[in-house]
Amino acid sequence: EDYQLGEFPDFMRKEMAEQPEAVRRALRGRLDSRFATAHLGGLRLDPRDLRAVRRVKFLGCGTAYYAGQIGANLVEELARIPADAEPASEFRYRNPVVDPDTLYVAISQSGETLDTLAAVQELKRKGGKVIGAVNVVGSAVARECGSGVFLHAGPEVSVASTKAFTNMAVSFAMLALWLGRVRDLSAAHGTRLVSALQQLPDQIASILETDYEVAAVARKYAHASHMFFIGRVRGWPVAREGAQKLKEISYVHAEAYQAAELKHGPLALIDAQMPSVVVVPRDELLAKNIGTIEQIKARGGPVIAVTNADLPDGLADAVLRVPRNEPELDPVLLTIPLQMLAYHVASALGRDIDKPRNLAKSVTVE
Ligand code: G6P
Repeated sequence: EDYQLGEFPDFMRKEMAEQPEAVRRALRGRLDSRFATAHLGGLRLDPRDLRAVRRVKFLGCGTAYYAGQIGANLVEELARIPADAEPASEFRYRNPVVDPDTLYVAISQSGETLDTLAAVQELKRKGGKVIGAVNVVGSAVARECGSGVFLHAGPEVSVASTKAFTNMAVSFAMLALWLGRVRDLSAAHGTRLVSALQQLPDQIASILETDYEVAAVARKYAHASHMFFIGRVRGWPVAREGAQKLKEISYVHAEAYQAAELKHGPLALIDAQMPSVVVVPRDELLAKNIGTIEQIKARGGPVIAVTNADLPDGLADAVLRVPRNEPELDPVLLTIPLQMLAYHVASALGRDIDKPRNLAKSVTVE
């Protein structure tokens, strides 16, 4: 392995820092400004095949599954094709209905996760059309799928996935754009998305520059035993991934919840010892998310908002800001401060960041 730590204290930090470059690599040669679309050559599907797709299902484990949820939202938004994500492990055990008009996307950084590989094999046995979204070229999932999109994130060593997650989301934005543009996504909308994608690397770099502020927030809340991560719609997979990052590397119990579901149970847990990280994209649900923060505050819960919106002064106890882009890409940017937050909570608690207890980088056994 010639992938070295260099100036960095651990691989997670290095891999977070590499995200602007990783996204640049994922985009390179794939955006088409002239036709306002993206091309993913490895898919080996022509527009006729693309138009035949009636449903898209994303399958993956852990972080890859949450990235799949972002993918499903993007496909529904941009291509108006019904889409969802499911843990690959559940899929393979539940005798799934495999539909010939569905495009299945098997997502895996390593390409070696046994549950994901087994889901692909099950799909192939039942005649499903499955493509890979894989980082490691030549890996088992990539070989088994035979076609797909490589993530081009570069080597990822830290157990907690960061740049691979980001490149999964970016790749799914390109897939959704492509699927959209052979349907009824307008050229104007496609053009906006192409230039929005091109802005991502610099925007991610600017979020990484807020490290000092995120670290201060992390230190303030690192003593908490539990944290909620709250989001709705575009913010929901972001909240899930944020909770995953925090629990895996800091061992702080983190639970993600859909904002509107809080009132059906979890609100009972809110008190001064239970901080909530609320994901607040500047979209048509902004007022709803502000209402969610007010509900939590009214019960004495501290709130950390992750947002690209201008929130009323004093609404949240801490605000982690990201730049604005096209709203469809908000999840990509809103996830970055949550990686940083988890990182700094874990480091304040003195955890072994790259090798959390009981976890493996890729799980190749049952
Ligand atoms: C393990 C890792 C996670 C990862 C998951 C899926 O649980 O600890 O970070 O998200 O496997 O890995 P994959 O290589 O398939 O993306």
